[in-house]
Amino acid sequence: MNYYKTTKPFLSTLLLCALSLNTSFSQSPKSLKSVYQEDFLIGTALGVEHILEKNEKANLLIKREFNAITPENIMKSQLIHPSEKSYNFEIADKYVDYGYKNKMYVVGHTLVWHSQLPAFVGKIKSPDSLRIFMTEHINTVAGRYAGKMNSWDVVNEALNEDGTLRKSVFLNLLGEGYIKEAFDLAAKADPKAALYYNDYNIEQPAKRKGAIEIIKKLQASGSKIDGVGIQGHWSINSLNLKDIEESIIAFSQLGIKVAFTELDLTVLPNPWDLRGADVNQRFAEKPELNPYKDALPDSVQTTLANRYADLFKLFLKHRDKISRVTFWGVDDRHSWLNGFPIRNRTNYPLLFDRELEPKKAYQAVINLKISK
Ligand code: G3I
Repeated sequence: MNYYKTTKPFLSTLLLCALSLNTSFSQSPKSLKSVYQEDFLIGTALGVEHILEKNEKANLLIKREFNAITPENIMKSQLIHPSEKSYNFEIADKYVDYGYKNKMYVVGHTLVWHSQLPAFVGKIKSPDSLRIFMTEHINTVAGRYAGKMNSWDVVNEALNEDGTLRKSVFLNLLGEGYIKEAFDLAAKADPKAALYYNDYNIEQPAKRKGAIEIIKKLQASGSKIDGVGIQGHWSINSLNLKDIEESIIAFSQLGIKVAFTELDLTVLPNPWDLRGADVNQRFAEKPELNPYKDALPDSVQTTLANRYADLFKLFLKHRDKISRVTFWGVDDRHSWLNGFPIRNRTNYPLLFDRELEPKKAYQAVINLKISK
């Protein structure tokens, strides 16, 4: 008996049924990374539990859906470089191995950031000492993974909302030249990695202008910069596609790639019109600010799906300019937005729910490709 001949009609029927029934995840032959294969990379941020492959269902989902990874926390200087002369590479090594073994695009996040700094950096008061820290940090961390890291977020969140430079310890002690120093150190430590400037709200005009200045200055001084990361911490209620489109165009006109590096869409009320990801912003817990504690209403689920579809339509329109779209987390349970800017809320910002099942938003993003 020819197995192929007898089973093929049955398998095709099953496939067609699965597609037309808006198939459940386990039966779906499609995945984000496969349908967007010709367009851009599709990434996710990994926590320690993912890197250590603790949950088989999550592990299968990550490998099936994503072809790019970013470490959500473990490469931040506070964790990887806890004291002056000691580094903690254990999980970071495993992270890089995970990407390598699964043939994924591996992102390093992040080399220079004012937040999550090791305690000893807080005590530094002289430019020389800070320069030594920054130099040793970049040489050691970027150097260790040279040749294995596909890209680095070299400098993270250097800007204020009005486009001026943030008065971080780096700016205060080293002056604005610290950005160029960081990019040059990274380029030397890992000549093959693509180097990115990464920030939130840089799709908004004033802050975008600041990012453009940073990039132009780097380019004018001969530094290597390959791309800009628009983080993409947005809300279903205030998604501004015009700003996003103008930014994609403006940044790519500088001759660099645009990546969406930390995408998520909050569905929760934001009465203070808080936008972005300044981790210092915190507010009190109140029941009315946590309206979907038990479940997300269908209407909001649909709005989330529509917003994601709008966004991916725009990304597809500019696919030639976009290198990667990375979600900031694997599933809703894992999202940092359950704890920010108010602790202990139940948010639903990603494409996979708390049971690691695909949401309507997942199907909407997939459908943009398969309905054509
Ligand atoms: O690991 C400790 C744990 O031992 C301790 O018990 C617990 C008590 O609060 O804290 C744990 O650390 C937390 C860490 O996440 C790991 O879960 C930190 O408090 C918490 O501040 C940290 O938040 C991270 C935040 O960056 C600050 O580093 C979020 O997970 C992470 O999603 C977020 O990611 C940033 C990007 O790196 C840059 N862009 C903005 C984005 C969102 O803020």
